[in-house]
Amino acid sequence: MPNILIVDDESSIRRSLKGVLEDEGYTTAQAESGEACLTAVRKEVFDVILLDIWLPGMDGLETLAKIRDLAGAPEVIMISGHGTIETAVRATKLGAYDFLEKPLSIDKTLILIKNAIDAKRLREENRDLKKQLLPKSVIVGESVPMKALRQQIQIMAPTNGRVLIFGESGTGKELVARAIHSQSPRKDEMFVEVNCAAIPEDMIESELFGHRQGAFAGATTDKEGTFQKAHGGTLFLDEIGDMSLKTQSKVLRTLDEQRFAPVGGGEPITVDARVIASTNKDLEEEISRGNFREDLFYRLNVIPFSVPPLREHKEDIPVLARHFLKEFSATYGRRPREIADDAVEILLRYSWPGNVRELRNVIERIVIMNPTTFRFERKHLPPLLHRDGRGGSSSEFSTLHQARAAYERDYILKKLDENHGNVSRTAETLGLERSHLYRKMKTLGIAVKE
Ligand SMILES: Nc1ncnc2c1ncn2[C@@H]1O[C@H](COP(=O)(O)OP(=O)(O)OP(=O)(O)O)[C@@H](O)[C@H]1O
Ligand SMILES: [Mg+2]
Repeated sequence: MPNILIVDDESSIRRSLKGVLEDEGYTTAQAESGEACLTAVRKEVFDVILLDIWLPGMDGLETLAKIRDLAGAPEVIMISGHGTIETAVRATKLGAYDFLEKPLSIDKTLILIKNAIDAKRLREENRDLKKQLLPKSVIVGESVPMKALRQQIQIMAPTNGRVLIFGESGTGKELVARAIHSQSPRKDEMFVEVNCAAIPEDMIESELFGHRQGAFAGATTDKEGTFQKAHGGTLFLDEIGDMSLKTQSKVLRTLDEQRFAPVGGGEPITVDARVIASTNKDLEEEISRGNFREDLFYRLNVIPFSVPPLREHKEDIPVLARHFLKEFSATYGRRPREIADDAVEILLRYSWPGNVRELRNVIERIVIMNPTTFRFERKHLPPLLHRDGRGGSSSEFSTLHQARAAYERDYILKKLDENHGNVSRTAETLGLERSHLYRKMKTLGIAVKE
């Protein structure tokens, strides 16, 4: 049976609510102050708290803020007396489920409680589902750098410190971010990712901070930003080096004040999200060029992580290849596969400019394209690997797909080179959206070097 805590300094109100709620089959407990409420919440699990706004000592809003910090927090319904309606409205913005006005209507009270219980259940179900969906964050590799990385994660994950992850494209930066989250006390809350490079410049603020209906053409409803979605959890700002200076200042202010206003104005929203950022750029160089704010760099770079390129831990290639082989055999419903030593040798000789992501893509490709092969040999590997990504004749390709991928890769690499690695400009010359080219580069295993 749902358990409800009644917090009011007036004993007559506590008594009558207790009567009504217990008649409905709820179990109840009572507290006469904010302090007593917190003591009760630490000892017992409640589904809903009815919380008076005006309390002697710690008031309702302060109590609400403290309750929200607890794990598995109950839904809170504020009780507002004369002259406290505005405060009640503010409380809902701070995370209260809703509010009731005194004198209390029994019907309204019961409906609201029922809705709050449903909302809490949905929220919990949602969270459990999300947890199941969360990709596994195992970092494979027995090399010295991989062991060191795992050890550093283990030490830093439980702290609340901001993390900045450096590393080339495809090295495993996101994987490290997820591993930190899943080993932190925030693991049951959301891990929210924002790819600052893939979101168009004019949409990024609304993505991060949300917007009010009518804030700009196309804002037809209110939208919750990712900072708010990550409340209690972790916000992963991927490719932060691509964020504009204007957005950087707003992020900086949000980190300092722990609150922000949505695009289009409105009440500031308080957030508690652990920020992990990543970049494949040399941010110190970006700072000297005036593209990145130095103050933001120091705020984010509390705990620096550096993920090495695959060529610096080549000894992990065999175990990574076998790990991905197992993963994709399972994904595509096939029995376990083997990879022959001569094929591993080719993998070891290649330079892997797209790092672990490129290796993973290669393994996925051979699993898909050779449905009946049990043991992969060097002939099953894409020709690109044999010639280290350069030159070659079209007769090397056994399928159209392989030939097209190789051609696209070479062509994009050439265009990138012509544009000095600038992705936006290359996208323009190719007639593609920047985000589209970006995704394509990822699939083709092309490292972003700007
Ligand atoms: N050490 C590792 N063990 C297992 N899987 C790994 C490892 N490193 C990377 N991967 C896998 O390789 C892929 C690429 O990693 P990830 O997306 O974390 O890289 P990234 O550095 O964020 O890349 P990008 O810069 O392209 O966004 C993912 O599927 C990830 O799970
Ligand atoms: Mg990434």
